[in-house]
Amino acid sequence: MKFPPNFLWGSATAAAQVEGAAHEDGKQDSIWDVFARVPGAIAHGDTPEVAADHYHRMPEDVALMKELGLNAYRFSTSWARIKPGDRDVNPRGLDFYSRLVDELLEAGIKPWLTLYHWDLPQTLQEKGGWANRDTAYRFCEYASVVHDALGDRVAHWTTFNEPLCSSLIGYASGEHAPGLRNPRAALAAVHHQHLAHGLAVEALRRGGAQQVGITLNLTNAIPNKPGDPADIEAARRVDALFNRMYLEPILMSRYPADLLVDVRDLGLAELIQDDDLQIIGAPIDFLGVNYYHDDNVSGHPLPADARPNLSPTYRLKASPFVGSEYVTFPSRDLPRTAMDWEVNPDGLRALLVRLGHEYPNLPPLYVTENGGAYDGDIVGNDGRIHDSDRTTYILRHVQAVADAIASGADVRGYFLWSLLDNFEWAWGYRKRFGIVHVDYATQMRTVKDSGLAYSSFIRNGSNAVAPD
Ligand code: FCB
Repeated sequence: MKFPPNFLWGSATAAAQVEGAAHEDGKQDSIWDVFARVPGAIAHGDTPEVAADHYHRMPEDVALMKELGLNAYRFSTSWARIKPGDRDVNPRGLDFYSRLVDELLEAGIKPWLTLYHWDLPQTLQEKGGWANRDTAYRFCEYASVVHDALGDRVAHWTTFNEPLCSSLIGYASGEHAPGLRNPRAALAAVHHQHLAHGLAVEALRRGGAQQVGITLNLTNAIPNKPGDPADIEAARRVDALFNRMYLEPILMSRYPADLLVDVRDLGLAELIQDDDLQIIGAPIDFLGVNYYHDDNVSGHPLPADARPNLSPTYRLKASPFVGSEYVTFPSRDLPRTAMDWEVNPDGLRALLVRLGHEYPNLPPLYVTENGGAYDGDIVGNDGRIHDSDRTTYILRHVQAVADAIASGADVRGYFLWSLLDNFEWAWGYRKRFGIVHVDYATQMRTVKDSGLAYSSFIRNGSNAVAPD
């Protein structure tokens, strides 16, 4: 496998998923702390209160990253820790991230910072959260506070992680915090997060940031039957909502015309004020791509005997596909992870290549998340975790990245999700994505075989061979 010189090999986590210390040193509730208290919102009643206790074990975790040979670490800062209640700056909160950054630099690991990975301060939710335009301006203030404190040491700044999830899944489907099922609010959240992104890009640049970007979760929306007009139309709608509703405003200062028609009754167009799209389309220096699976889309109802969708809880949920709620996702004959997500590494190759063809001003790409949850991560008598499915998943996707580069995609790094087993949102702690196992009773860390494989791959990268 061939990768360009200086290609970054990293791993990723997010504040609410690993830190714990949810109410320590001045941190106050984020929407995920509050959502976790709603009966039935999170599988097994799990909460982010302790998580992987990274807040207290950070030096040990950075030492582990160093041992694994990671070049970069993607983490997020918690707004509710840095500006609890979105009020005054909490120096103890900032201090945690300052120590983390110092520890990383000391270990020779590049800090890759994300400002928003879904954990809005609850006080802002009480004022409407992302459905309220004002939240975009509050985000910009928070971004500046973080940059003022860490901008001397952190080069790469990501505004948002996967805005699709924190808008459509949080406000329309109700599976994520804040747990609403309101399509109009979901589209308002989309637009206000875009605006927040644009305002923050401008503010970070004013503060001297050189590398500013955003991370999107993107998919290939494949018509179930390639010649079936209903399936083609459904795939177009999913592509609009999943990919182009984010890519076009950010890269081209416009919403897709077909999307505006699809959602015409849901108030999106009415929210766009005069300079918004100009602000949103401020040039970025890199695009983070999170990829887990493609989507096989149909415009027909699923047959009665179709494989049911896996759902984390019994709580009532709605479709996140606002204005296109009828679309279905027939199962294909592909291997699946414990999340029930299809394993299809070639989708990653195809996606990375096609982005360059579809967006002439596409900045350099980084795969900022990719990885697999598998059941059966048990520490064996030999003290090891033989997670061969995860190893295979990783090496095949890394091969797909190499193939994309060989076909002309400008990909400059790969961050594996995740460093540690962690709080997998509505799924709680039973879905494990880590290359490092966490025993939640003792917080003991054990590097899984996949972690050892990734580590040796990083060390001998270009010679490694993916298994069949
Ligand atoms: C992504 C999220 C990340 C993690 C993975 C499995 O959608 O960004 O926090 O939960 O999925």
